[in-house]
Amino acid sequence: MFKRSVKFASAAILMAGLAPALATAAGESINPAGEKLYKSACLACHMAGVAGAPKVGDKARWSALTAKGMDALMHTTINGKGAMPPRGATKADDATLQAAVEYMISKSQ
Ligand code: HEC
Repeated sequence: MFKRSVKFASAAILMAGLAPALATAAGESINPAGEKLYKSACLACHMAGVAGAPKVGDKARWSALTAKGMDALMHTTINGKGAMPPRGATKADDATLQAAVEYMISKSQ
């Protein structure tokens, strides 16, 4: 009985140790789907700042945006605003969209 619980405990420790390693391998993004979505759908506008899109890496612009809070950013991302198409013209779900926004923020600090 004692031996068995030790085994479970070490498995849990191993997994807890593995998760951050995976996150680092995926470019410091917690959810790798965010980076993937950014690169396939958002980068086209957000890398160069097309049509006034907040450019990834523009620290001043993004710190003003993050000051509005994630709810406000997600509202714009989901519904669109000006030249920003709703959901970035994708069919991505809310969680993946948020992961993409978090990825862009992480690259703009
Ligand atoms: C066709 C170009 C285009 C694409 C593709 C695009 N964006 Fe945007 N995005 C914009 C523009 C332009 C703005 C600025 C809108 C404004 O403030 O008028 C913007 C603004 C934003 C903002 C700031 C929202 C706010 O509250 O001001 C976020 C977050 C964002 N985009 C996320 C994304 C994500 C995530 C994707 C990919 C799923 C994406 N965008 C794809 C053009 C684009």
